[in-house]
Amino acid sequence: MLPRRLRSLLFAPAVRPDLLRKMPRTGADAIVIDLEDATPHDAKDTGRVEMRSAVADLAGQLPILVRVNDDTTPWHDDDLDSLPTEGLAGIVVPKIETIASLDSLAARLTDRGLDMPVIGGVETALGVADARPLLAHDMVSAAYFGAEDFIADLGGVRTASNDEVAYARAQVALAGRLADVTVIDQIVADFTDDDRCRRECLQARAMGYGGKLCIHPSQVAIANEAFLPSSEEIDRARRLLEAYDDAKAQGVASVALEGQMVDEPVARQARRVLAQADD
Ligand code: COA
Ligand code: MG
Repeated sequence: MLPRRLRSLLFAPAVRPDLLRKMPRTGADAIVIDLEDATPHDAKDTGRVEMRSAVADLAGQLPILVRVNDDTTPWHDDDLDSLPTEGLAGIVVPKIETIASLDSLAARLTDRGLDMPVIGGVETALGVADARPLLAHDMVSAAYFGAEDFIADLGGVRTASNDEVAYARAQVALAGRLADVTVIDQIVADFTDDDRCRRECLQARAMGYGGKLCIHPSQVAIANEAFLPSSEEIDRARRLLEAYDDAKAQGVASVALEGQMVDEPVARQARRVLAQADD
């Protein structure tokens, strides 16, 4: 089962048992042992062995997911064969693109007795274009947006501005909302840039994202804080709803608070802030 919150999803390569053993102290909402991009082609077998041993060691300490290679690669089936049926919170499947491949994933998991949630990666041109039906598929319990792979596939240029991913990032958030699944935002590759990480987390939350893919423990604390309302936001939401309810009691549905108009959509946002804070 996926954890209630997916604010921080911390990755480590399957071939780095030293990093995997440090995962419990990071405070991540969930961790991902990566058999895909972070495990070299010629080390997939070793990666699977290390993954199983890490799951055995870490099970029960925190929610563990494994990212497998996608079904266009020669490693997909062996990755699925290697997954333990116990001890995992879910499977991360990168580069989801078609309904047919999600259908076939469902059959492959059933065949192997792997009854667990899937987090799908939307990180190709086709995946982004078809995000809405893909995220609505029964197999998909949550999704992430992968900016680096998306831009590589698109043939664009990745920049710190994020302008080139604005459309795709928003499209995935919209698809997540319509499918009622949590969406998780792109990585920040420069793990020394805390400001960028914080800025992106806040931006992602504003767009409807519930969390961030993390590659370094320093990003976990930033994401865990950024994806919950701050105390200032909570205070303001309370004041706002009080003013709005008073106004409604007097027969008006819009009122001024601290120089800003408050009406029903603004009140709805405030209710959501309070609900998130209580969650
Ligand atoms: N998970 C758990 N612990 C990690 C970690 C991770 N992903 N990344 C770093 N750490 C640990 C380090 O081992 C170190 O521990 P120590 O204090 O006991 O020495 C501490 O956090 C600080 O790490 P630091 O020295 O700043 O980084 P590094 O040079 O060891 O590692 C990377 C940098 C990028 C190689 C590493 O963070 C990494 O492999 N990240 C995951 C990459 C990945 O999975 N990519 C695929 C998904 S996009
Ligand atoms: Mg990738």
